[in-house]
Amino acid sequence: MSQRSKNLPRRSCLSTPGSSDRFLAKAPTAKSDFSFLDLEDSVAPNEKVAARAKVVNAIRTLDWDERVLCVRVNAWDTPWTYGDVIEVVGQAGERLDEIMMPKVQRASDVVAMDLLLTQVEKNAGLPVGHIGIEAQIETAEGLINVEAICAASARLESIVFGPADFAASIGMPVTTIDETIHHAPSNPFSYVFAKILMAGRMNGLHVIDGPFLKVRDLDALRYAAGISASYGFDGKWALTPDQALVLNEVYSPSQGLFDKSYDILDRYRVATEQEHTGALMFGDEMIDEASAKIANSFVERGLRAGMSRGQSA
Ligand code: GLV
Ligand code: MG
Repeated sequence: MSQRSKNLPRRSCLSTPGSSDRFLAKAPTAKSDFSFLDLEDSVAPNEKVAARAKVVNAIRTLDWDERVLCVRVNAWDTPWTYGDVIEVVGQAGERLDEIMMPKVQRASDVVAMDLLLTQVEKNAGLPVGHIGIEAQIETAEGLINVEAICAASARLESIVFGPADFAASIGMPVTTIDETIHHAPSNPFSYVFAKILMAGRMNGLHVIDGPFLKVRDLDALRYAAGISASYGFDGKWALTPDQALVLNEVYSPSQGLFDKSYDILDRYRVATEQEHTGALMFGDEMIDEASAKIANSFVERGLRAGMSRGQSA
């Protein structure tokens, strides 16, 4: 796991098919916090092997600035996983931060990836432990095992929900992933969001929501993203640069909330250090140590997103 990428924001995680030279060339121009080059479901089976070299070339030759850079490899139940890792991690160099694992079912899937990465890093002259892991939860089995999965390796940086594969895995009666799922009379995603969030936070991981497939409807995306953001998720996948712009807003604290959090911390410091009191009124609200912790998490999130105190958004 690289400390550099672990500390960066992941409000918008842009997906790019690894077989498309055109989309690969465009990806670094998007304003996304995170970019992943896909070798899995957005690449046709007969393009999988050729896409590896395209992805390596894009990592080595394009300017990815500070964003987190990741490659999604194929799952262990395909013939491609080890080849993806050996070719891409073996040749991409240090700029590659992470590997994303799709359809993680159990902790041993992550342990196996950790062991393979260690060998490949040694042979490629990379620092051992340099490559982080993102684990996608997109099956019923993966969700049931998510607590063990999140604790399976020190390389883990994020736990990621994959709603499309997940809907297929549990037999949800939907043909796409859009905002209507959240309007249905019963919505299994509420349980999924809470379960993934707890497992991720228990292990200090970023927690990321997956794709929104009605790509042209940015208002509907804003609504759906607002739901996982309200649970405390750190970000969501973007399938287009326009989606990324919406997500950067949704997963940042508002300027008002950011400034109020600083004000709470200032007032609480004075109360505890000079007035010797631990619980006090802040306007109409009672605050104490727990309020300071909440405020601190908003300040950290805002600072990660590049916000400054007292500026309008
Ligand atoms: C993403 O991989 C998904 O299946 O939603
Ligand atoms: Mg998937």
